Amino acid sequence: MGSNKDIELIEDGKRMDGREFDELREITIKAGVLKRADGSAYLEWGKNKIMAAVYGPREMHPRHAQETRKAVVRARYNMAAFSVPDRKRPGPDRRSIEISKLVSEALEKVVFTEKYPRSVIDVFIEVLQASAGTRCGGLTAASVALADAGIPMSDLVASCASGKIEGQVVLDLGKNEDNYGQADVPVGYIPRSDDICLLQMDGNLTEEEYEEAMDMAIEACKEIHGIQREALRERYSTELKDENEKDLAEGV
Ligand code: CDP
Repeated sequence: MGSNKDIELIEDGKRMDGREFDELREITIKAGVLKRADGSAYLEWGKNKIMAAVYGPREMHPRHAQETRKAVVRARYNMAAFSVPDRKRPGPDRRSIEISKLVSEALEKVVFTEKYPRSVIDVFIEVLQASAGTRCGGLTAASVALADAGIPMSDLVASCASGKIEGQVVLDLGKNEDNYGQADVPVGYIPRSDDICLLQMDGNLTEEEYEEAMDMAIEACKEIHGIQREALRERYSTELKDENEKDLAEGV
C-alpha cells in the first residue's frame, strides 16, 4: 500500500486493466496435475501462477509435533526465486512464514483432522509467478489439492481479496493496485457454513467501506468456489474416462 500521484489507477470509471470495480481477474484451476503427490492443483489467476501439492495424511515427524487427537495441517508457502521482478532470495522469510501459518489455520477449519490422530497433512504451495493476491490464490489452489488427495473436508475454502484504490472499493487488486492503492483485505471463505477462515487488512477503510469490501469478497469467493468444484468435476470425469478406456483396451 502506498501513494503515487503519477499513477492513475482509475480512468473513466474503469481500472488500469479495463476491469469493473467488482470484477475478478481471470481464474483457471486444474486438479490432479502432479503424479507423485497425493493431491495437486495448478492455478492461474491473472498473471499469478501457483502450484499446490498435498502429501498425506502420514505419520508426523518429528514425533513431539504430533497431536494425539488430530492431524496437523502443515502448509508451506514458497515463492520461487524467479517469481517476481527482483529475484526473490530462496528460503523462508517473515512474509512466507506468516502466509504459511494463516493458510494452515484456514485449511484446518475445513479438514476433518480428528480422523487422523498423530498425522500430518503437508500442503506445499509454490508460487511460480507472482502478481498480487498470491496468498488467496495459494489457499484456493491448496483446498482443491486437498480434495484431490481425497482428504475428508466439510467444504472447499475459497479466497479472494478486495480493497480500496483512489477512494473506491474494488475487488481482487492487481499488482499496481496493490502497490499504490489504499487498502487490501484478503478474505478466506467457507460457503457451506458461511464462515470466514482468513481475514487480514493492510491499509485503512471506513466501516461502510469495510462492509462493502467484505460483501464484494464473499460474492467473489462464491464464484471461485464454483471454479474449484468444476476443476474437481473435470478431474474426476477424466479419471473415469481413462479407466473406462483402459478397461476397454484390456477387454474387461
Ligand atoms: O501476494 P499477496 O498479495 O498475497 O501478498 P503481498 O505481501 O501483499 O504481496 C503482493 C505482491 O508483491 C506479490 O503478489 C508479489 O507480486 C509482490 N512481491 C514481490 O515482488 N517480492 C516479494 N518478495 C514479495 C512480494
